[in-house]
Amino acid sequence: MLDTRISRRAALMGAGAVAAWLASPARALLAAAGKVETPALVNDLIRRMTLEEKAGQLQLMASAWGGGAALSLNPPGNGSDFQQQVKDSAEGRLTGVFNGNGARMARIMQSAVMTGSRMKIPLIFAADIIHGHRTIFPVPLAEVASFEPELARRTAEAAAFEASGAGIDWTFSPMVDVARDQRWGRGVEGGGEDPLLGSLFAAARVRGFQGTDLRSNEHMLACIKHFAAYGAAESGLDYNAVDMSMRRLREVYLQPYKAGFDAGALSAMASFNEINGVPSTGNHWLMTELLRGEWGFQGFVVSDYTGDEEMIAAGYAKDGRDAARLAFLAGVDMSMQSGLYRDHLPGLVRSGAVPEAQLDQSVRRVLALKAMLGLFDDPFRRIDEKREQARSMLPATRALAREAARKSIVLLKNEGDLLPLPRSKRRIAVIGPFAAGTARNIGPWVVYGDNGRSVDLATGIRAAVENPGSVTVTEGSNVEDPVPGGIEQAVAAARQADIVILAIGEDAGMSGEAQSRTEIVVPEPQQALAEAVAAVGKPMVVVLRHGRALALEGAVADAPAILATWFLGTETGTAIADVLFGAYGPSGRLPASFPWKPGQEPYYYAHKPTGRPNPPGELQSYKTHFHGIPNSARYPFGHGLTYGKIEYSGLALSSPTMAANGSIQVSATITNRGSRAAEEVAQLYIHDRVASITRPVRELKAFRKIALAPGQSQTVSFTLTPADLAFYGLRDRPTVEPGAFDVWIAPSAESDGVHGSFDLIA
Ligand code: NOJ
Repeated sequence: MLDTRISRRAALMGAGAVAAWLASPARALLAAAGKVETPALVNDLIRRMTLEEKAGQLQLMASAWGGGAALSLNPPGNGSDFQQQVKDSAEGRLTGVFNGNGARMARIMQSAVMTGSRMKIPLIFAADIIHGHRTIFPVPLAEVASFEPELARRTAEAAAFEASGAGIDWTFSPMVDVARDQRWGRGVEGGGEDPLLGSLFAAARVRGFQGTDLRSNEHMLACIKHFAAYGAAESGLDYNAVDMSMRRLREVYLQPYKAGFDAGALSAMASFNEINGVPSTGNHWLMTELLRGEWGFQGFVVSDYTGDEEMIAAGYAKDGRDAARLAFLAGVDMSMQSGLYRDHLPGLVRSGAVPEAQLDQSVRRVLALKAMLGLFDDPFRRIDEKREQARSMLPATRALAREAARKSIVLLKNEGDLLPLPRSKRRIAVIGPFAAGTARNIGPWVVYGDNGRSVDLATGIRAAVENPGSVTVTEGSNVEDPVPGGIEQAVAAARQADIVILAIGEDAGMSGEAQSRTEIVVPEPQQALAEAVAAVGKPMVVVLRHGRALALEGAVADAPAILATWFLGTETGTAIADVLFGAYGPSGRLPASFPWKPGQEPYYYAHKPTGRPNPPGELQSYKTHFHGIPNSARYPFGHGLTYGKIEYSGLALSSPTMAANGSIQVSATITNRGSRAAEEVAQLYIHDRVASITRPVRELKAFRKIALAPGQSQTVSFTLTPADLAFYGLRDRPTVEPGAFDVWIAPSAESDGVHGSFDLIA
């Protein structure tokens, strides 16, 4: 009965909406990008290869060069020594290595293959180029705060320029896992909590890394990871199981992967987690039916680091052979680090457990990509020691790092217009473990960057003020341990100052892989420092360092001004000083909600309503809330202040109704009533009031960043179509139902901005 009712409702709008969905720009892109050409040479090679050589083309290992970066960043696996790795390459047992040590290493290995191997199939060199190569850009989550996907395209392109100069053909990036639980440490590598924002950044990063021609020696192959839903690990515990409805998977978690593939990414990495009982690495539905069948992906899939082997501990495979078979038959073309494909695929084919045609197909995919990267034309096209040096940390790249860093900073709070600070006649005490020293600037997941070449906060501040002598620096506390006498020194410094800048937060190692936290707060010794320094009573600006959204407490939360600065990379100090002293007006917006308390996690703005919402204002008995805190975020997704005074007014809809095949325009006027220029990010949200599947309280559908001079007004206008109102119906298909929709143009996901409504009619 229920089913019929829903089908009828869905059918009312189904045809038009699904047509609109199918005609969406994202689908159109699929036709243009993501095509794989297989040259005749590839098939010719496959005909002549032994089973062992074929398996070798599907085996990737961490570089063993001199204990290279990979070995310190990843747990020891089946690593061999470098000479053994060169020998393996020359004997056809390796397709390539990752996180190696630059052009010189790549030249030794590639030469061994091109002179000594039977098939002369070039190696592919991969690396985790997550937020820069030598010049380090803000961590990916920070950059998403810019709400400027084009910025991410530019930084990805700049990273590809440096890295491809150092012999790297393939980056394990972008990581596009939606992360809605801030306890999970790897949110720092991704695109935040929202599927639309995450999708736009996923696509932009792919375009930046890959450019328009994969053969270019200034670009590299991108890898969408971790497929799929790695960010939904239960309780935010890294590697943990994921269990969710297909609807949520499709509607939220799969979106950014799809956007990355639609933008042309031609490799994917399987995620460590299981989804609904089946590990991604052994998941035929995910890797073959969905990815290749439904989405038309033509590139190749690599496992994550020993991900195939890990199916044994997970209780899905009985031994290494079984794990290799399950992963391979599921659709994972290449194995990373376990050695299982090399060891077992030939035998699996000989025993008939794996069809040779399927082995050939995976080899074809890998070789086709090597061809598209231009490696058969010139195996050394990205290997050039001089170019490696010549491209490293160029002034233009550093300038881009500074631009990206300042655009990533979010002004959470600015009571009494404490910021921007004057450049002169003030004594400034910079206090905290992040006040000075470069050791923690570049943040997590950096293989080749050098903290020593970054600018620290104190240096940035001294360069920005008229009298650098007026700036004192006091550590006050370590990140997780007190410094003996540190608080007393900090209090004394605060007493001597007119303004305190308190630089506190998380260490680089507190987010990233395997860095889940239960208490997402400023660590206790730093909180104690904040309380003591705040008690001195001087105007205090908190400059937060963090790899996730935090629950701010006590004196930190009460400080009159708070800047969220994440890990900003090479230009950390310069960029923060630019914002502190007003050379640049803050324009970042939160890509992840800051909760009131850690216990609210997973907290995300697009949550479902309950049947007992707590009305705005006082907490009411038997209404939805945790004890003592509102059912909201302290700083929601999309929040970020400017140095202007921004007002939203005059929401206008082009029509009170939208037809099934129509559209409506939604506009509002945004005014800067302040005396400083500002950049505002106007955000369009909708809510479907009644539907056959309950809908989130709000969903972001579009946004626009606009510059407003003092006193200036601008009208922003968005077009909504039925495709924007679609959701996955009971049969997990895009569905649009008639009815009333709320619409907001607002400065964040939980602010009113301006609000209206319209009806979608059949
Ligand atoms: C494991 C991580 O999950 C993945 O993101 C990374 O690319 C590989 N290690 C290789 O370093």
